Amino acid sequence: MKQYDYVIVGSGIAGLYTALLAKTQGSVLIITKGSIDDCNTKYAQGGIAAAIGKNDSPETHFKDTVAAGDGLCDIEAVRILVNEAPARITDLVNFGVPFDTLNGEIALTLEAAHSIPRILHAGGDATGEHIEVTLSEQVRSSKIQVLEDCLATEILVEKGVVKGVKALDCRTGSIEEFGCRSLILATGGAGQLYKFSTNSDIATGDGIALAFNAGAEIVDMEFFQFHPTALRLPGVTPFLISEAVRGEGGVLRNVDGYRFMPDYTPEADLAPRDIVAHSLLYEMKKTGSDRVFIDVTHLPPYVITTRFPHIYRFCLDHGLDITKGLIPVAPAAHYMMGGIKTNSWGETNIAGLFAAGETACTGVHGANRLASNSLLEAIVFTKRIVEGTTKGTEPPSTGQGEEVRHSLSQRRVPEIVPPPSRSALQQLHWDKVGIIRNKESLTEAADILATWQKSLPQPTDRPSYELNNLVITGRLVTEAALLRKESRGAHFRSDFPHSSPQWQRHIVLVK
Ligand code: SIN
Repeated sequence: MKQYDYVIVGSGIAGLYTALLAKTQGSVLIITKGSIDDCNTKYAQGGIAAAIGKNDSPETHFKDTVAAGDGLCDIEAVRILVNEAPARITDLVNFGVPFDTLNGEIALTLEAAHSIPRILHAGGDATGEHIEVTLSEQVRSSKIQVLEDCLATEILVEKGVVKGVKALDCRTGSIEEFGCRSLILATGGAGQLYKFSTNSDIATGDGIALAFNAGAEIVDMEFFQFHPTALRLPGVTPFLISEAVRGEGGVLRNVDGYRFMPDYTPEADLAPRDIVAHSLLYEMKKTGSDRVFIDVTHLPPYVITTRFPHIYRFCLDHGLDITKGLIPVAPAAHYMMGGIKTNSWGETNIAGLFAAGETACTGVHGANRLASNSLLEAIVFTKRIVEGTTKGTEPPSTGQGEEVRHSLSQRRVPEIVPPPSRSALQQLHWDKVGIIRNKESLTEAADILATWQKSLPQPTDRPSYELNNLVITGRLVTEAALLRKESRGAHFRSDFPHSSPQWQRHIVLVK
């Protein structure tokens, strides 16, 4: 078995940034199931938040983050996030990320639930792509070994300590083992659980399933964020229409052209994501339409084409000139707030196993993530992972709320079970575990998912491993959503529509 100091699974911002820092500390291997650039990072449009503006402060960023998290943020983790943000932005600039500037200074924009413009962007709305390209070029030109088309299938643990990872060579079908001192899971989220998602095809919950099977604690899985505005055009996969579009003055209109958001909340188009997503659903139901519209036609065309070149071009390629016409949108699954439970050094409950980026739950997002905090979380906490592996760490953080621990429950086999497939699973989650859920819908989904889990054959190739991982991740989302008998942040139960102080605690799921 080949031995490394660090094996990193995944090649988005968290994986690449960890690799670039870890390479000065020891040998590094990145394994990634597609090509190095297949990741969610490159789809991030809005940008990356940091309190670097003249009138901003980490304290204001802290308050906004905690307010969005709806009582479940880990306060210590949020302090770290906001305090270390400016230094990590400097690191990205030094790596060569070309953030947009205005009058010689980094340009900042506004997004929902931020009390001040603090979002850095690059190439207008191509921030994630610029970060990914910059970091992957750095990795390619360094001595870091990257194995593409290589899917991690099992974490090797001996006496509670990570020894390495098994991986499938997706081209040959052979399984190989890689030994390591530190294994960092940076596999991204699980947006592929849902029929409508802003995520790329790779977001299949791989890290969650790997870690759960190895005995890691998984937390806060019921909190899945739905972005209110993904492009809704027939035959076109949902494409993110950044919140920054509304930050720059875009407004939502219903199918009759009426500007409805002020009727729902005083913050109107810039209310937190869950409120905007729910308002859209009500408005769509009220008007009998499967979409609403973003109107930017009142903005000068050059603002649209220079600030949102990517969105402008994508829509134009699909026959829509957004400087003249309304953009049809509807909510879509976007971000998994929960994940593999880590402390503020990225450590999990298994020695030598770390998690970073969307697959991790550091506690910074609580029940609802503040826009543009995800890229930031990835770089702040991966830096700490590498620091911790070289210097040793302090005791783990205790977190803001209490915890309840559960294992996955036994479920009954329903009379009708559709055959398992990715599309059946996506439809099931969209219908039963979506933006609005309740006991009945969640129970139905939980029963079907448990039955699928038992009946799926031993996986042999990338699609079959991914389906297995989605089923396990879906079970964790669904069971946690059933357990949480309240509504909070991104989790809305129509049978428990209010939040309850007794639920100001985290749900931890273990094998
Ligand atoms: C967006 O551009 O609206 C997405 C940014 C994010 O999810 O943080």
